[in-house]
Amino acid sequence: MASSCLPSFAWIFALFFFFFFSDRIDVVKASRRIFKNPDSAETGSITSTKYRTAYHFQPPQHWINDPNGPMYYNGIYHLFYQYNPYAAVWGNISWGHSVSTDLVRWTGVGLAIAPTEPYEANGCWSGSATILPGNKPVILYTSSNARKEQVQNVAYPKNLSDPFLREWTKPDHNPIIEPAVDLNASEFRDPTTGWLGEDGLWRVLVGNKIGAGGRAILYRSKDFVHWVRAKDPLSYSSGSGMWECPDFFPSDGGNKYVLKMSLDDTRTDHYMLGSYDKVKDLFVPDGEFVDYRRWPRYDYGNFYASKTFFDEGKGRRILWGWSNESDSVSDDIAKGWAGIQTIPRVVWLDKRRRQLLQWPVEELESLRRKHVRLHDVELGTGGLVEVKGLKVLQASGC
Ligand SMILES: *[C@@H]1O[C@H](CO)[C@@H](O)[C@H](O)[C@H]1NC(C)=O
Ligand SMILES: *[C@@H]1O[C@H](CO)[C@@H](O)[C@H](O)[C@H]1NC(C)=O
Ligand SMILES: *[C@@H]1O[C@H](CO)[C@@H](O)[C@H](O)[C@H]1NC(C)=O
Ligand SMILES: *[C@@H]1O[C@H](CO)[C@@H](O)[C@H](O)[C@H]1NC(C)=O
Repeated sequence: MASSCLPSFAWIFALFFFFFFSDRIDVVKASRRIFKNPDSAETGSITSTKYRTAYHFQPPQHWINDPNGPMYYNGIYHLFYQYNPYAAVWGNISWGHSVSTDLVRWTGVGLAIAPTEPYEANGCWSGSATILPGNKPVILYTSSNARKEQVQNVAYPKNLSDPFLREWTKPDHNPIIEPAVDLNASEFRDPTTGWLGEDGLWRVLVGNKIGAGGRAILYRSKDFVHWVRAKDPLSYSSGSGMWECPDFFPSDGGNKYVLKMSLDDTRTDHYMLGSYDKVKDLFVPDGEFVDYRRWPRYDYGNFYASKTFFDEGKGRRILWGWSNESDSVSDDIAKGWAGIQTIPRVVWLDKRRRQLLQWPVEELESLRRKHVRLHDVELGTGGLVEVKGLKVLQASGC
């Protein structure tokens, strides 16, 4: 198997780099091979629609960043995301909203949350969804007020009978969590999904920075409205810098917990494995994860601000992340869009319980069309084998 797969992969990669970059730069060294551009006359500019993705999530136009509040509710997958409704640069940050029944084909249903209130004067930033008793979803999100202080707010669906939960309302009691005087109000954001303790209290985490370190501040609430900060953060680390988008979830039936943080300094997503001391309300990392310099990453490519949710429908945990194309601002403006969400992946703990494993959701296979099988293929001197009978450009619908 491996001997027939590897060369075809290499070949597909070669073609990918060739087609994808050939009209943007003359020489590409990304795969340590050099491809010249033989037919630049045929190819379009950066504004060509062929650079849009066919399989990854992206809205029709404009800027997106972090995935927000993913959830499975009454048979529908919801994906919200940081979105500028007016331009392909960061700004006017709102929550775009799309729905799907298979995590592959998405329909946009408008803005779920947009800045309308004084406490959102500088945008509606990232957050999470939680499903409260009585099957009632709530969104908990950060906003930046006119003084650029980060505060946490809630929003509820306007009409629970609308299967797509298109409209969301903000109660008068927002904001519900404001930064205490000892917290840096410029580094206080991205609340997690809530979880219920054995004492019946809800818990959420908010990312924060203190000195050069990051931490996940813990809050508790009876009703998801009134929140009290715990004496100690759930976890912290010196030296790692700001923890954005913390994510905390059980694995292996609750024998292990995962605490993930997006490190603002390096724009990379890392995690620790450990146990959750429910009496002290502390996350205790396993020995090898104590030092932040040893935290593994979810993904070693362009992948940031990720978030997971538990899919009750299929009993799996699904991971979303934001990927930017690393284009210049002027290229983003020219092409009219910026940012994609990565393919959703199932994430689970390996048998040795030392690391997380992940694989694209099985629904993705519904995009496959023509199968090409290779048997008894001998590698040529160059180590490459051409796979005939398929086109590798996704836009061609192969
Ligand atoms: C924000 O929206 C306003 C229109 O409401 C627009 O004039 C402005 O250019 C937008 N800013 C950005 C950065 O998109
Ligand atoms: C709520 O949504 C349902 C289903 O779409 C619709 O029939 C009903 O009219 C909506 N109610 C209101 C008050 O908009
Ligand atoms: C608060 O955070 C901002 C943004 O990182 C930083 O510029 C500022 O120096 C911080 N203030 C304090 C008192 O640490
Ligand atoms: C885009 O991704 C690259 C590579 O991960 C990173 O260096 C850069 O800071 C990102 N840009 C933004 C706006 O996050």
